Amino acid sequence: MTTGNKKGKNTEGRKEVALTQASGEGEGASKRKMAPVVQSSQPWVEKYRPKQVKDVAHQDEVVRVLTNTLETANCPHMLFYGPPGTGKTTTALAIAHQLFGPELYKSRVLELNASDDRGINVVRTKIKDFAAVAVGSGQRQGGYPCPPFKIIILDEADSMTEDAQACFIFLLGSHCRTLQLM
Ligand SMILES: Nc1ncnc2c1ncn2[C@@H]1O[C@H](COP(=O)(O)OP(=O)(O)O)[C@@H](O)[C@H]1O
Ligand SMILES: [Mg+2]
Repeated sequence: MTTGNKKGKNTEGRKEVALTQASGEGEGASKRKMAPVVQSSQPWVEKYRPKQVKDVAHQDEVVRVLTNTLETANCPHMLFYGPPGTGKTTTALAIAHQLFGPELYKSRVLELNASDDRGINVVRTKIKDFAAVAVGSGQRQGGYPCPPFKIIILDEADSMTEDAQACFIFLLGSHCRTLQLM
């Protein structure tokens, strides 16, 4: 299973903020401005995360299989396991981006990470609503395969409560043609 730092979701359009420091020491002081400090709102773990499956390092077999998956756009449910920091999240995010591209990504991919609630309510609300949205016929758009299903990236899935898991399995069963789980 994969993880996507929740903050990372909003960091694709990187913002650079020039900060100035206001001083309360009289009029003259208030006009004095500090040299601008450029700060990226993007953590390095996101900035340098490989964007494509082929750039995931030291996972040759995984990359080979997934490259084939991308070519055929035939994506089964997937379970990624392994020690922290070996590329599970990275790989899942890269597949999803390469399948749908930037335009469809938001409507076709639901990322749930460790900071999201893991109880049954999240399944009853977020996941159920996402599952209910219809998908188109699956035509290639903008150079991306855009297959006719949606993806749920469920990070740290083992932390889901048991009743949430049961509810989730039921949902997967009833939307088996249009939902893929990573
Ligand atoms: N196989 C890899 N190839 C390239 N970068 C990697 C790889 N594994 C981890 N990283 C780097 O480490 C960071 C954390 O990886 P992540 O995919 O979140 O690990 P996890 O397996 O814990 O989900 C990513 O930002 C990525 O840049
Ligand atoms: Mg992870």
